Amino acid sequence: MPIKTLAVIGGGTMGSGIALIAATNAINAIVVDISDSQLEGAKVYHTKQLDRAVSKERMTQEEADVAQTRLSYVALMSEASDADWVVEAATENVEIKKSIFSQMSETFRDDVVLATNTSSISITDLASSVPEAAHRVIGMHFFNPVPVMKLVEVIRGKETSEETTAATIALSEAMGKIPIPANDSAGFISNRVLMPMINEAFHAWTDGVAEPEDIDSIMKLGCAFPMGPLRLADYIGLDVCRDIMMVMYRGLGEDPKYLPNEKLINLVEQGQLGDKSGRGVYKYDKE
Ligand code: NAI
Repeated sequence: MPIKTLAVIGGGTMGSGIALIAATNAINAIVVDISDSQLEGAKVYHTKQLDRAVSKERMTQEEADVAQTRLSYVALMSEASDADWVVEAATENVEIKKSIFSQMSETFRDDVVLATNTSSISITDLASSVPEAAHRVIGMHFFNPVPVMKLVEVIRGKETSEETTAATIALSEAMGKIPIPANDSAGFISNRVLMPMINEAFHAWTDGVAEPEDIDSIMKLGCAFPMGPLRLADYIGLDVCRDIMMVMYRGLGEDPKYLPNEKLINLVEQGQLGDKSGRGVYKYDKE
């Protein structure tokens, strides 16, 4: 079935990006968020991104206007109940996500795929909160910034049907992405490999091996990374990094190598979350 309207639950960094690429690929997108300020932030982000695409001549003004009309913002999931597909992109917390999944299974038609953008949480575990809909639950893991990054990591849970998987691959491609499968294990592939490296960069900083700027420059110049690990941590969100490490710690046999670094935890507790709060490892101009 062609997907005309996508509901995105959570209008933060990732949800707003996912909604934007839906709209620029001829799919209506309804952003659902419990926070008015996050909904407002998503709207501002969309306007800025579309204006920028026009000024860079990647899009005509007319195309940008059409994309804008495809976007809407609501506080209640029930206002998005006509959607043909739903992607959950809320806070990386199992309990929050499970309660959103229960609500999704009650709100949307029973042929609608219930996808999650989780970075690390087991798809089978999330699906256990909606046993009757488990065959429609799948991981559809986009990367940040969504409009730029090509990958969608596709993660099947134990009960995910072939039909759901095929439809997820088709939708990812229709949104201009390259879907690649990974098995359902905490952190999947991308974060299982990336997060311990970021965490290790925090350990190196804590141990006084080098200052953040030098750690990042060494990894950029020595490993050809486009961005150093500490800069990337700020970009992802330090809270998101901490949460992913904790999911891997719990999901991979409580191996202490997955425990988040103390300095990382302290920064999060002080509200220094990275780019989104204007301060993390580095300081940013919030605009
Ligand atoms: P974020 O903190 O920017 O946004 C999360 C949003 O969820 C907030 O706007 C919050 O108000 C909303 N929310 C919380 N509970 C809700 C509910 N019950 N109903 C509706 N909205 C609710 O987080 P971000 O970075 O966008 O992450 C979202 C998901 O995407 C997480 O699962 C994260 O692990 C994953 N992810 C994050 C990446 C990143 O680089 N930040 C990359 C890929 C995946």
